[in-house]
Amino acid sequence: MSSHQTENLTLHEKVKIMNRKESPMNEFPLMKVEKGNKVLFHPHIPKNANNYIADTLSARWIGQGPKVDQFEIEYSKKFCNNYTTLAVGSGTDALHLAYLLAGLKPGDEVISALFTCTATNIPLLYMGVKIKFADVQSDTLNIDVNHVRELISDKTKAIICVHYGGLPCDMDELHAIAGDNGVCFFMTNMRS
Ligand SMILES: Cc1ncc(COP(=O)(O)O)c(C=O)c1O
Repeated sequence: MSSHQTENLTLHEKVKIMNRKESPMNEFPLMKVEKGNKVLFHPHIPKNANNYIADTLSARWIGQGPKVDQFEIEYSKKFCNNYTTLAVGSGTDALHLAYLLAGLKPGDEVISALFTCTATNIPLLYMGVKIKFADVQSDTLNIDVNHVRELISDKTKAIICVHYGGLPCDMDELHAIAGDNGVCFFMTNMRS
């Protein structure tokens, strides 16, 4: 089913499709579904991921090494229009670096997602940036663009959104809000 065909489905219907037997999500059904729990999705780990990890360990390049170079080059080609890509050691590092490169300073105000891993916001607190939390949409648990519009002010320096569980945020709206207000726009993702 193409993304065009699924775009009008409810979250519940999308989850049913993801949980179908033939879905790639079920290549590695590692997590037990306990009674009473609702499983929204399983992370997708391709079968050949194990081989890549084994190769890396046996080559003993467990930090910077040829696979990092290869990853940066391929990522840059595929997603960044050949702009330089820099791999870092963790999601927290990546966000911290991005916030610094965007020039966020102590006392600046940003709008960030209420529902996210704490690591999205910890670098901001570390830098002394003030966070205004935007609520989430009840169907996707992604940032609510209407609340972002309510919170934005001339003090806002950036908006941070988080794509959750493979469901993208409303990027057109968020780009438009950021563009109209001349603020930086960051995105990160959880379980996506
Ligand atoms: C939205 C989000 N931001 C940041 C992070 C931090 O990533 P890491 O644990 O690699 O530092 C996570 C980790 O799950 C995350 O889900």
